[in-house]
Amino acid sequence: MKRILVTGANGQLGKSIQEVINNYPDYIFDFKTSKELDITNSNQVRDVFSSNKYNYCINCAAYTNVEQAEKKPDIAYLVNAKAVKNLAKTCAEYNTILLHISTDYVFDGEKKEPYTVDDIPNPINEYGKSKLEGEKYIQKILKEYFIIRTSWLYSKKNGKNFYKTILEKAKKGEDLNITDSQIGCPTDTNNLTNYIISLIIRNNQKFGIKHFTDNQVLTWYDFAKKILIDNNLEDRVSLKKVKNYCTFAKRPINSVLYFKK
Ligand SMILES: NC(=O)c1ccc[n+]([C@@H]2O[C@H](COP(=O)([O-])OP(=O)(O)OC[C@H]3O[C@@H](n4cnc5c(N)ncnc54)[C@H](OP(=O)(O)O)[C@@H]3O)[C@@H](O)[C@H]2O)c1
Repeated sequence: MKRILVTGANGQLGKSIQEVINNYPDYIFDFKTSKELDITNSNQVRDVFSSNKYNYCINCAAYTNVEQAEKKPDIAYLVNAKAVKNLAKTCAEYNTILLHISTDYVFDGEKKEPYTVDDIPNPINEYGKSKLEGEKYIQKILKEYFIIRTSWLYSKKNGKNFYKTILEKAKKGEDLNITDSQIGCPTDTNNLTNYIISLIIRNNQKFGIKHFTDNQVLTWYDFAKKILIDNNLEDRVSLKKVKNYCTFAKRPINSVLYFKK
């Protein structure tokens, strides 16, 4: 039986993975919340890896607050870079394949076409920079890894995300002013979960950087509209386009990752 360690188990992706494990009885999944395994604590990481032989580690742990990362970058670098370096070293030591989740925000958004895995990253905010640093450590330390970049991740059920925020506001009848100045591919955590698990069950050995999205290019405004339509709420609220949605951290204008199914 293959054993899989999942860090950051209480995040929206971690929870999506927890919801499907009954479909994979030939695999043992060990889920660790941030309390059970703080990836910045190297002693804890070592204790967990020495307690069981893990064939795979899916790293869902990350500092994902883009606005806060801009104001307090240290914590973002600690979790998204330094801890990832230690996790990669531990995976190397214990012969564990690391599946690490990264982001469209490693790119600057200036490209006119979708970003491929061969494009050179150039992040424009601290979150993106910290995630890129984590990627680089993995590439330097490990041979057997997947860095899976995804974009505009949301879960209809878990966590705090754009999908759920729009739905909550719409249900309360609040007016929505949503920017149409960025494009990206909203990605459902359930689909990303299936992709991650398929890499494992197919014993994929083509290691390296991968892009995964739901492959539909939308603006945030388009995405909000889709959410309203899918939930029969489009007549209940006023949805308006805005050009400049003021945020502390810069966001790439083009966040589209090239991904071929
Ligand atoms: N959300 C997006 O739009 C998006 C887009 C592209 C890529 N990604 C990437 O996708 C991955 C999954 O994101 P997500 O949306 O599922 O994130 P999330 O919901 O914010 O979950 C992240 C999880 O990491 C945990 N965590 C934070 N610091 C930790 C630490 N030091 N040790 C262990 N766990 C720690 C958090 O714990 P607590 O529960 O205690 O807070 C949380 O459960 C991340 O790598 C993220 O960078 C996300």
